[in-house]
Amino acid sequence: MAGNEQKIDPRLARNYADLATDDQRAVYRQWADSYDEELIEEFGYIAPQEAVNAFVRRVPDRTAPVLDMGCGTGLAGKLLDQAGYTHIDGIDLSPEMLEKAAALNVYRQLWEGDLTAVIDVQPIYQAVICVGVFSHKSDQPFLIPKLLDCLLPGGLVIATVNGKGWRDIGWVELLEKSQRQHDFKLESVDDIGYLTKQGIDGKLLTIRLRP
Ligand SMILES: C[S@@+](CC[C@H](N)C(=O)[O-])C[C@H]1O[C@@H](n2cnc3c(N)ncnc32)[C@H](O)[C@@H]1O
Repeated sequence: MAGNEQKIDPRLARNYADLATDDQRAVYRQWADSYDEELIEEFGYIAPQEAVNAFVRRVPDRTAPVLDMGCGTGLAGKLLDQAGYTHIDGIDLSPEMLEKAAALNVYRQLWEGDLTAVIDVQPIYQAVICVGVFSHKSDQPFLIPKLLDCLLPGGLVIATVNGKGWRDIGWVELLEKSQRQHDFKLESVDDIGYLTKQGIDGKLLTIRLRP
């Protein structure tokens, strides 16, 4: 695949460096207004739909409290709402992205938060969905325990990983290392469509917190 990879649009490629948190926040400050249109129309971003399809198969209870980590403008929240989920909260690094998410009126609560720092969330969620956040940063496989910390016992995490990031930084080895350090179990790793007009596929991680 590496030799055949098409040139990645610079608006995406700027995120594929190992950006510091403030730089990441600055990227999304500039991107919030045009994000939905560019991602969906220009880049064929289908990761939220893929993740929500998997979520619906695994979380039948539409009243289950759900946390959308890295909710951005709310693409996944909107789809969860359309699927009938009634208790959706969201966290994101970027106030500008959160503003867009709030305007959808599908989230009960939205917070500004940084997954790489302390996440001050009670473990009240039956499921966490995390779409489009995991990509090229080598600390990200080690942040999965923070998602698990938000869950009730037996709760579920559905998270996507950008397929280019998956290969570029060696997620398979990093995930194995993270699992050894933090004792969590991957239920499955599935192939999904991701940025279809950029030739970038994705992975869908399903992780269940031990009961
Ligand atoms: C590609 S967007 C995905 C947004 C949304 N989930 C979607 O699928 O459209 C990545 C999002 O992750 C957020 N993000 C990046 N690093 C983060 C961090 N350390 N903590 C919380 N959110 C973060 C960004 O602000 C941005 O909104």
